[in-house]
Amino acid sequence: MARLLFLAPILAVVLLPVYFLFLKGHPPVPELDLNEWWGPESKKEKPDTSVKPFNISFGTVTVADLKARLERPRLFSPPLEGVGFEYGFNSQQMDGWLKYWGKEYDFKEREKFLNQFPQFKTNIQGLDIHFIRVTPEVPAGVEVVPLLLLHGWPGSVREFYESIPLLTAVSKDRNFAVEVIVPSLPGYGFSDAAVRPGLGAPYVAVVFRNLMHRLGYKQFYLQGGDWGSIIGSSMVTLFPKEVLGYHTNLASCMTPFGTMLEFLGSFYPPLVVEPHLADRLYPLKTRYSFLLEETGYMHLQSSKPDTVGVALSDSPSGLLAYILEKFSTWTRPEHKFKKDGGLDFRFTKEQLIDNLMFYWVPRSITTSMRLYAESFNSKTMGLKLDEIPTPVPTWAIQAKYEIAYQPPSILKYKFTNLVGVTVLDDGGHFLAFELPKIFSEDVLKAIGEFRKLKDKKTEL
Ligand SMILES: *[C@@H]1O[C@H](CO)[C@@H](O)[C@H](O)[C@H]1NC(C)=O
Repeated sequence: MARLLFLAPILAVVLLPVYFLFLKGHPPVPELDLNEWWGPESKKEKPDTSVKPFNISFGTVTVADLKARLERPRLFSPPLEGVGFEYGFNSQQMDGWLKYWGKEYDFKEREKFLNQFPQFKTNIQGLDIHFIRVTPEVPAGVEVVPLLLLHGWPGSVREFYESIPLLTAVSKDRNFAVEVIVPSLPGYGFSDAAVRPGLGAPYVAVVFRNLMHRLGYKQFYLQGGDWGSIIGSSMVTLFPKEVLGYHTNLASCMTPFGTMLEFLGSFYPPLVVEPHLADRLYPLKTRYSFLLEETGYMHLQSSKPDTVGVALSDSPSGLLAYILEKFSTWTRPEHKFKKDGGLDFRFTKEQLIDNLMFYWVPRSITTSMRLYAESFNSKTMGLKLDEIPTPVPTWAIQAKYEIAYQPPSILKYKFTNLVGVTVLDDGGHFLAFELPKIFSEDVLKAIGEFRKLKDKKTEL
């Protein structure tokens, strides 16, 4: 009998995939309330469906108060000897950043810069949602197609400013041009936050689907990274007939089956990943220790966002250190060994402070972090959206230094119509912000391919 025990792992390897693939089935697509109200009850009586022009205003009082705070930081504890960003943001860097923010950052000029694209607000399910909308002017014969662009944490619509002109450009090589709709997530930037618990990623997906309907689009293309990809993945799962194609720079799905494949692959990588990409996934030990080291913030924000939020909304130094540390490591993991976090590698100070203004001015850091608590809980995870396959044509771009990688062999169980994958040998987590040209060209290429598929389908 004992001699037969060696069969157990072999049986597991054979039977587990059989179980997941043929026996388990997948959960049903949940029917979420498309009108769930997240704003104050008082606004429910007379819903306002207008779309109003909006400009960002930092406000003179807010700017004066911010400058005063930036001028009087306490002494920070010095970093340990010889240390860069390994223990977090290096406090020796604070002085330069605070001086820049308070004295050199041109608030008036940056306000103008941020208002260069038409912006609007409209009330969806009780929340005033802020969004940029740029519609290209096209010659006859060129079709304008809508693209919803979704940012994540700790980003903002600012991540897309360099890409928007590239995405909306009219080219004689294309018979279509893209209109972009770029909303601030609820509770982020200038969008309202929910007033009661529950607004996790799948429910945000409903909000954005309703936003697109409000703008007259029952069908549209979709792009997202970070939370934008989790919300995007929810949208293609909940509304497969409405999303014409989904482009993501963080393709991922968390399922027991995927985890099992990853685990099996650790014994023999070619089973799940092309050899030249194996180091993006294996050894698992390296990946898991990286995740443990870099995702403490996630546990904190999933459990007690309001506590850390008090400190970060009261102190621009704290907000800056907390957010810029992410821009350092998520752009290049090895930048944590640098004294300045390598923050100037792909971004200017101005760009990074612009992004901070979306958190400081509307005091949105606490509400932005709540998205973790609302999404990573048993109610939202219980919907098991990642386990429901979607037929929506999907295109992934995979940057070399993205914080997580999944090979197509795993992704295709979720995204059954994975039309294309662009593998980059460059780039990190904030791809649109870091490499706008590569990002935009890939999105346009994907939409071109999605359109070809659609044409083929209508011909049949
Ligand atoms: C936004 O700013 C522009 C340019 O200064 C101005 O023309 C427009 O009226 C402003 N819109 C709103 C809603 O304040």
